Amino acid sequence: MVKRNTCVFISGYGSNLKSLIHNSRSHNFPVNISLVISNNINAKGLLHAKINSIPYLIIDTNKRNFENKILYNIKKHKISLICLAGYMKIISKSFINKCGKKIINIHPSLLPKYKGLNTFERIIKNGEKKTGCTVHFVNEKLDSGKLIIQKSFFISKNDKANILKIKTQKLEHKAFSEAIIKMYRYN
Ligand code: GRF
Repeated sequence: MVKRNTCVFISGYGSNLKSLIHNSRSHNFPVNISLVISNNINAKGLLHAKINSIPYLIIDTNKRNFENKILYNIKKHKISLICLAGYMKIISKSFINKCGKKIINIHPSLLPKYKGLNTFERIIKNGEKKTGCTVHFVNEKLDSGKLIIQKSFFISKNDKANILKIKTQKLEHKAFSEAIIKMYRYN
């Protein structure tokens, strides 16, 4: 199987990056993690790129030409898929159009519910019975592209936001890879 080159965008801890790197080592997983891009020089997740000898790039999103720098590297590394894994910057419409690659994102709620930030606090406040995570295609609207996969669990009476985060991330680590397998299952 020819694995597609994949780039993971991060800003922080990188637990999803870690599980993608781990799962990509299976011979029948459809992608390789070939590049990591962070908009945060202090992102802990960069460590996973370093210890696995994966090329990485730190981008200063305050610089005017930062998107061109990303596009140049996407081309250079022959990237077919971009995974947003805790990338805390909205992807512009012009980037999506110029890039022309598949871009997917993982979000810690059952979209279309709870788009945006502070999801766990809002879920608790609204007394939801169930939550989970979503992997979806990225379009120009925040957390709004076509769904690929969702995983859910029932919220216990005593769950606080930090517990919801732990439970949700455990599902995310499975969902991201399952979504990628689903995307490429027929080719
Ligand atoms: C994840 O919970 C994801 O849903 C959200 O950002 C978080 C990133 O976590 N978009 P990590 O950096 O992968 O640990």
